[in-house]
Amino acid sequence: MCGIVGFTGKQSAAPVLLDGLKKLEYRGYDSAGISVMDGKKIAVSKVTGRIANLCEKTQDGTNVSGFTGIGHTRWATHGAPTEENAHPHLSNDGRFAVVHNGIIENYLILREELKQAGYHFDSETDTEVIVHLVEMYYRGDVKEALMRTANRLQGSYALGVICSEQPGKIYAMREASPLILGVGVGENFFASDVTALVSHTRNVIYLEDGEFAELSGDSIRIFDLSGQQIHKKITRIMWDVQAAEKGGYEHFMLKEIMEQPAAVKATIAPRIKGGKICFDELSVTQEDLKGISQIIITACGSAYYAGCAGKYALERLTRIPVQVELASELRYSDPLIDEQTLLIVISQSGETADTIAAMRECKARGAKTLAIVNVVGSTVSTIADYTVYTWAGPEIAVATTKGYTTQVAVLYMLAIYVAEKLGRIGEETADYIKTLQALPRRIQQAIDMNPSIPAFAKKYHKSKALFFIGRNTDYATALEGALKMKEISYLHSEAYAAGELKHGTIALIEEHQPIIALCCNPSIMEKTLSNIVEVKSRGAEVLALTFRNNQKILSVADDLLFIPETDALFAGVIEIVPLQLLAYYVAKENNCDIDKPKNLAKSVTVE
Ligand code: G6P
Repeated sequence: MCGIVGFTGKQSAAPVLLDGLKKLEYRGYDSAGISVMDGKKIAVSKVTGRIANLCEKTQDGTNVSGFTGIGHTRWATHGAPTEENAHPHLSNDGRFAVVHNGIIENYLILREELKQAGYHFDSETDTEVIVHLVEMYYRGDVKEALMRTANRLQGSYALGVICSEQPGKIYAMREASPLILGVGVGENFFASDVTALVSHTRNVIYLEDGEFAELSGDSIRIFDLSGQQIHKKITRIMWDVQAAEKGGYEHFMLKEIMEQPAAVKATIAPRIKGGKICFDELSVTQEDLKGISQIIITACGSAYYAGCAGKYALERLTRIPVQVELASELRYSDPLIDEQTLLIVISQSGETADTIAAMRECKARGAKTLAIVNVVGSTVSTIADYTVYTWAGPEIAVATTKGYTTQVAVLYMLAIYVAEKLGRIGEETADYIKTLQALPRRIQQAIDMNPSIPAFAKKYHKSKALFFIGRNTDYATALEGALKMKEISYLHSEAYAAGELKHGTIALIEEHQPIIALCCNPSIMEKTLSNIVEVKSRGAEVLALTFRNNQKILSVADDLLFIPETDALFAGVIEIVPLQLLAYYVAKENNCDIDKPKNLAKSVTVE
């Protein structure tokens, strides 16, 4: 989704802004622009397509002079990805430039009002109303104009503003869209996320809803919407710059797949103490847990599928009913939620608009909220009653990999933790914990034991469609496997519960149709085996994913992917890895933009 950056200091602003925008590319965008102030007037450069075009247009920022500026990557919502619609937008008098991430829901009414008042519009965007409102309300005090503007806006926004009459100053304002201030020495920054800041500073301030900031090279002042100055703490970002770089890999996605053993270990290991799962971040008692009558898991995209994968362990071990709901559906479903509901919210970014809205809705109905989040300080973590971080480090590829596996790992840990606290598991806890501790090693084995994946990708990449089948825990992983495949390779891929094949999907099976059959759950393996035989007898080619010595499957499948043997209840984080690699190599065969698939965004901050 859109990304914004701002800079003020003593060095030329344009190269800093371009560098920041490059770091935000992974969020997904289709046009970009910067505005730089040279002390008197504001210059704007905009392009469609990639940041590389903006670098070319501005000669890497060298032909734009000035020490203060704002920049933007736009993921089109209102209006096509054209130069006119790209940000920054200028006020009619040229004194203000604005960049925006979010959606202004009442923009049509405001647009009409502003037109009546004589303002003309150069774009189709919802954003342009903001810059005209700021101009309309400006009487020499930008702060005042911003507060009055905020008063008129409905929807979500992270805003960056500059004013030609306020040299050296940049303004940032936030409502329901992420925005972080970077605290430098003699220079200050803002950005949609920390990846754009860490090469300059590790000291950041998380702006919250209803707050805005005025930054100059040597000061940062933050206010609430009544104009009252507020003081906020500076947080130190712990991860290093290399973590957000490719480190010799061709793509971030491949690097992040390979990082999974370490990411899962970093998430699990510190939480195992004295043979028990310890969540220091959860101050819950046995009494609190006894009061839970249902668990609802909500999320979007892969995080939703992580919920589907984790549900089995959670329900099996705790014996508490678990439902997994898409956040975009849950928020509007008048959900049956009360004080006895534990809502588990899963989000890599912690900024997904539907996830946040569903969470607020359920919280208002009395649910206790526990967030599983990767980005420290993100919105979801600030709303939740409890937050458990997945220590995956920065994830840059749009298609999540280590974000997903660490989320599932946390759900496994929660299952054991809650079940143990409730006395619903006993001696077997030790075995479960051993299984968890072995997960990083087994993920590495799953990477190492499948050297044929690039060859399978060559074989299958031209298929019209790929169908993934599985039952129970295998079905949950099939859902995520199919999503990975479609989002980066653009190959039509769907997951089906294997038992449902006969109810319609089998009509799609024809000669040479590839079927990816997940067979890692011995309790229902025979049933999936029957489905494999059924599709094979109709001409399908089966690529099965199973244990190395699983003779039954080996004898019927055409091709094989392997995972090391493990308890099926906790196999999901291992089983997904060969499927991630398969998606990666199919996308590579199809010459796709693997890290930045078309039309997709890393962090979906609008509904
Ligand atoms: C986007 C990303 C997915 C992600 C989903 C939810 O669609 O491309 O990879 O699973 O959003 O994001 P979240 O940050 O809430 O996990």
